[in-house]
Amino acid sequence: MNEDTTALFFAFAARDRASAEHSRRVANYLVYLAESWGMREKEILIYYQAGLLHDIGKIGISDRILKSPEKYTRADWEEMKQHVYIGATLLKSLGFAEVIVKAAQYHHERFDGGGYLGS
Ligand SMILES: [Fe+2]
Repeated sequence: MNEDTTALFFAFAARDRASAEHSRRVANYLVYLAESWGMREKEILIYYQAGLLHDIGKIGISDRILKSPEKYTRADWEEMKQHVYIGATLLKSLGFAEVIVKAAQYHHERFDGGGYLGS
């Protein structure tokens, strides 16, 4: 795993531990799937990084929304949806592999391409 991934994940965990723990679980599931599909170690590592960083854009979401125990308003959802673009932009600017950038950008996309899933 590269140093940028480690540094970003550390910052993410400091900002939002619950989301970072979720991301670590996602990363571990991706490793399990990639291994069971017979992927090579290099590819498995990329998927692991994609899992760790798919929600990194949440670092750009306000605490009021990110840590709210309340149900989101429509405006809150609109802000939360921005995490996919924030994350993809951050990862792209740092030169991460395209599959990692796309994991951040599209991880809430509906399978039919119909938009953000989760609101
Ligand atoms: Fe997300």
